[in-house]
Amino acid sequence: MHSAIIAGTGIYDIPGMSFQERIIDTPYGQAKVNIGTVDGFELVFLARHGLDHSTPPHNINYRANIKALQMLGVKRVAATYAVGSANRRVRPTEMALLTDFMNFTSGRPLTFFEGGDSGLAHTAMDAPYCPAMGRKILELAHARGLAIKPDAVYVATNGPRFETPAEIRMYDRLGGDVVGMTGVPEIVLAREAGMHFAAVAYSVNWCSGIMDVLELHEEDMVETRQNLARLLVDALREMAEPDCRCADAVMVMHPAKD
Ligand code: HPA
Repeated sequence: MHSAIIAGTGIYDIPGMSFQERIIDTPYGQAKVNIGTVDGFELVFLARHGLDHSTPPHNINYRANIKALQMLGVKRVAATYAVGSANRRVRPTEMALLTDFMNFTSGRPLTFFEGGDSGLAHTAMDAPYCPAMGRKILELAHARGLAIKPDAVYVATNGPRFETPAEIRMYDRLGGDVVGMTGVPEIVLAREAGMHFAAVAYSVNWCSGIMDVLELHEEDMVETRQNLARLLVDALREMAEPDCRCADAVMVMHPAKD
């Protein structure tokens, strides 16, 4: 199994995909994945909050999820994030390819490499999201007439609360575009696991203080979500061997002992 989609809020199935749920036992606990095919293309679909959206952002077992994908042989991941807009570069209902992130989460295990038997490594984050997969996603989006911002900086907050206006002003001034609660440590762990990882965010609200009210656009998003899910499946399917340096990202100082 080569490719996976990790989907967030609002995406609980993939158009045209029939799948079966499987529980994978990992050293970090159990992960629930859905394995199936879309038009003959084998795919793992992981709903990070669960198919019933019962797991809040800070309680997601990110290590179990990524380890399970690794155990299944997944090398390429395309992820979706429902986010808020911290400025006008990406507006509610719009999609954006992520090219960088900032981490403001706390208390989450951030690595597979804890020292000791788990080994020690440092992982490059100069291009955290796979540029080759990103190019493919943009190319397909363009061919389909789907508007997608080509670069956005994701700010990861802990949640489950939303941010204050002062926090959003700070994130915007620091260079953040969109704000979500689940992007980190997912991207970090995927890179540690040697995967190519691309992500598209879609904005469902203005963040606090940008407009008067926190305006949710859940029902306006149905078409965007379906387009996005199809786009990511096709990008994974049509992707040749990625021309990037993701596979060299991990600098191992002490290998893990099994
Ligand atoms: N902030 C953080 N996470 C979010 C938001 C937001 O405004 N909207 C959707 N996820």
